[in-house]
Amino acid sequence: MNEEIARAVALLRAGELVAIPTETVYGLAADATNPDAVAKIFVAKGRPADHPLIVHLPDAQALDAWARDVPAAARQLASAFWPGPLTLILKRQPHVLDAVTGGQDTVGLRVPNHPLALALLREFGNRAGHVAGLAAPSANRYGRISPTSVTDVRAELGAKVSLVLDGGACAVGIESTIIDFSCAVPRVLRPGAITAVAIARVLGVAALAGKAEHADIATPRVAGSDTAHYAPQTPLRLVDRNQLAGAIKDALAAGLRLAVLARSVKVIAAPGLAWHAAASEAGAYAHDLYAQLRVLDAAGSDLILVEAPPMTDEWLAVIDRLQRAACGSGESDET
Ligand code: TXA
Ligand code: MG
Repeated sequence: MNEEIARAVALLRAGELVAIPTETVYGLAADATNPDAVAKIFVAKGRPADHPLIVHLPDAQALDAWARDVPAAARQLASAFWPGPLTLILKRQPHVLDAVTGGQDTVGLRVPNHPLALALLREFGNRAGHVAGLAAPSANRYGRISPTSVTDVRAELGAKVSLVLDGGACAVGIESTIIDFSCAVPRVLRPGAITAVAIARVLGVAALAGKAEHADIATPRVAGSDTAHYAPQTPLRLVDRNQLAGAIKDALAAGLRLAVLARSVKVIAAPGLAWHAAASEAGAYAHDLYAQLRVLDAAGSDLILVEAPPMTDEWLAVIDRLQRAACGSGESDET
């Protein structure tokens, strides 16, 4: 066994926190069966206690140890997309801690697609009679931008975490798609890299309820989440492509120092304007998004303008994160 993984397993078994890489974002992991360890997650993040955590599993076979009455459709998605950036909300087994579920009768489960995370989960679970699982939210302070590298994790949590496993930059870059199976019809609670269209295709249905409908995009339904999330401290505004040039001119005329994140070619050059080119393809845009937001936030601008991507299925997850960033931006840490 890799030495770092052995250290991580020992710390987790001792009830400590370990930051782990996943393909989406870095997670702040604790033994999901240890209430004291889970409590440390909430303290480290400054997260309200009623916000539920996702339990990470080594493989789909572990599903039934954590969930009951698992619908066939949920198993279909697990076999199609796990390991991968998909979280299933299912009825919980009685042993699952209230601290993990936020007191709800459901639990969020996912098998991450990262070799280090999987090796850790397998090793951690390698004990007879132990229903192994790691509770892990994104490894950022509450309401802040999720970390996609070890440097970001350290910037967010510093000494609050005993060990950060270095798995490099996260391949996907935004959090997993969340599908809720606790009601009659499965629905999207959080859009992600696995799109509603891809999920509907596997399930053989025309469309999914919830976030798949464009009109719904500003209404996050994830229990315990609020709209203000993923937020930089510099005010951020999302602007339609055809209004971008006007918005830039207005901001410059008002004497603002401006940072722009746009897929379009640079339309204006001016002193006080920093232009950041964004990827034109949705997957690459998502991959870079949080790192870009950190750079934009650190640039000392008065305002960040982001050119809104198109409202198509493949862009919904990115648009969701940008809307949340816009909504929670501009607040200082003291508030
Ligand atoms: O990609 C991801 O999902 C990352 C990596 C680390 O796996 N994790 C992540 O965790 O994004 P977190 O805690 O930052 O976001 C999890 C979301 C929260 O908004 C939470 O409310 C929701 O999942 N959630 C967890 N359990 C739930 C449940 N039983 N019912 C409804 N929502 C749930
Ligand atoms: Mg989070």
